Amino acid sequence: MQITLTLNGRRCTDEIPADMTLFTYLRQKGCYSVKCGCETSSCGLCTVWMDQKPVLSCSVLAARADGHEITTMEGVQQEAVEFGTFLADEGGEQCGFCSPGFIMNVLAMVRELPNPTDEQIKEYLAGNLCRCTGYQSHLRAIKKYLAHKQKEAVR
Ligand code: FES
Ligand code: FES
Repeated sequence: MQITLTLNGRRCTDEIPADMTLFTYLRQKGCYSVKCGCETSSCGLCTVWMDQKPVLSCSVLAARADGHEITTMEGVQQEAVEFGTFLADEGGEQCGFCSPGFIMNVLAMVRELPNPTDEQIKEYLAGNLCRCTGYQSHLRAIKKYLAHKQKEAVR
């Protein structure tokens, strides 16, 4: 079957098998930031955006992306590096395995909830598993990043 979508701002038309996952499609398109940890919608590592909202690419068929806008970390590289610095500074990047999906979800959250409470942050990120950090460093990094963005906005 044929699909046409916008991937990181570029229009793409491709022939794909009907059962191909969005994860496999994106890797084939060279989006190597997209990783797979579980293939069962459990870990959040494969998070990308469809029309600016986070989706688990391991559990979405590529066919469903037809006509939509898909964003991977390659499409928000500058922001990802900026937040990644806060994450590293707070000790939130240890083995780094969870980081790609986590960062995509944080950047989506910042767009959706400009001033989230701790509870909202925890709820939004509940699907992003990390086996190293205990999440406190993640929370500190997000709060410092949000404060930085708010300061930038009033400048
Ligand atoms: S790889 Fe998709 S949720 Fe784990
Ligand atoms: S830093 Fe190792 S899984 Fe999150």
